[in-house]
Amino acid sequence: MPLSISCRSFAIVMSEFQPAAWIAASPSRPLRGEIRVPGDKSISHRAIMLAALADGISHVRGFLEGEDTRASVRIFQQLGVRIDTPGDGERIVHGVGIDGLSAPAAALDCGNSGTAMRLLAGLLAAQPFACQLIGDESLSRRPMRRVTEPLAQMGADIRSAEDGRPPLVISPVGRLQGIAYPSPVASAQVKSALLLAGLQAEGETCVREPHPTRDYTERMLQAFGVNIEYRPGFARLRGGQRLAPCDIDVPRDFSSAAFALVAATLVPASDISLHDIGIDPRRTGLLQLLQMMGADIELQNRRQTALGEVASLRVRHAPLNGIEVPMTLVPDMIDEFPVCFAAAACARGTTRIRGAAELRVKESDRIRAMAEGLCALGIAVDETPDGADIHGGLPVGGEVQSLGDHRIAMSFAVLAQCARQPVRIADTANVATSYPGFVAQMQRLGFALQGM
Ligand code: S3P
Repeated sequence: MPLSISCRSFAIVMSEFQPAAWIAASPSRPLRGEIRVPGDKSISHRAIMLAALADGISHVRGFLEGEDTRASVRIFQQLGVRIDTPGDGERIVHGVGIDGLSAPAAALDCGNSGTAMRLLAGLLAAQPFACQLIGDESLSRRPMRRVTEPLAQMGADIRSAEDGRPPLVISPVGRLQGIAYPSPVASAQVKSALLLAGLQAEGETCVREPHPTRDYTERMLQAFGVNIEYRPGFARLRGGQRLAPCDIDVPRDFSSAAFALVAATLVPASDISLHDIGIDPRRTGLLQLLQMMGADIELQNRRQTALGEVASLRVRHAPLNGIEVPMTLVPDMIDEFPVCFAAAACARGTTRIRGAAELRVKESDRIRAMAEGLCALGIAVDETPDGADIHGGLPVGGEVQSLGDHRIAMSFAVLAQCARQPVRIADTANVATSYPGFVAQMQRLGFALQGM
């Protein structure tokens, strides 16, 4: 399939792109109230993918109505899967079986979503048709070799653009071979891509990780009837298994809850509750870190669900102290570093982050984006290749750039609640990828935040 298709689609995406900005008046009044943040992004993607491959109908509730997860829905519709939307946050997926997908007529647009592109690379590498995975400007800069190289070892034929970047052009190759792969990166996306390819491969596929990552793919494959062996840092399955349909209740996303969590910690006299949040230990490193820094966070109504433990988080204001972030926590809070920078900016003393070079290849270079924004707001930051020293203080007002990165935009909206003067946050449109309704929900808690 010619690469020019991706360029044409990309031009359309760019021409439709609406820059947006927020203005945060400050200081914020105390944050009060109770909210339910949107559904978990990682689980929502996987629910659509596995349900599409199942033999029969699966009902997904609590689905994240974000641009990223909707891109996954559109892609499976292009692959011939009927997906109905009976209501907000609900999908009924008419699974076609692991051998029932059909060749798409156009390129598959993953938008801003690294999870969609990397998992789909594995899932589609074994299919008997060609296809092309494309993404927006940010996704087109992100490294894909971490999945294409092990998939090539399994026999896949995936071509990429320069430096292993998207678009990815996948050609059919017949049966893949299972692989025993010691992954050099702690990445749930890499592990998941290989397991989804392994499910369709000859023999056994086994992935070992340098640090355990979120195990949603493993848990969910099991819920869909796949025989899989897994424990922290290890997963193994045999190819040739079929998936049975399964109804999924998606817990609410800790990564989205993290913004209100940090804001209520920082703004004096705040007291909020965040309900039904997934508190899987592989996701909640930030919770531990904030508690070590002095935060007052209580876990209430803890209960087990098929997709791990959920709880309500009650958060009251507490002053924070700077800290050396334990390296062992880094993978468990990988998506929360932008808001961790915001917390550190208001903490007493210096917060030292190391071992987080992965942040440079997320939706933006998150170390650079946060360091530049904090400096613009008068907070001193010493950047290093794999982290930063953030010297806590009192942020002034000013203008910061989100670089089209949802989590950067939301983290500055949090920090702005503590700034002495108004903060303008540019380029916020991509917040819709993971947290539709962010501004309205934060306003309800008492954020001084307006769209412009
Ligand atoms: C994700 C895994 C993580 C995370 C991303 C979602 C997933 O990425 O940062 O937001 O759903 O598997 P890596 O696998 O690159 O660590």
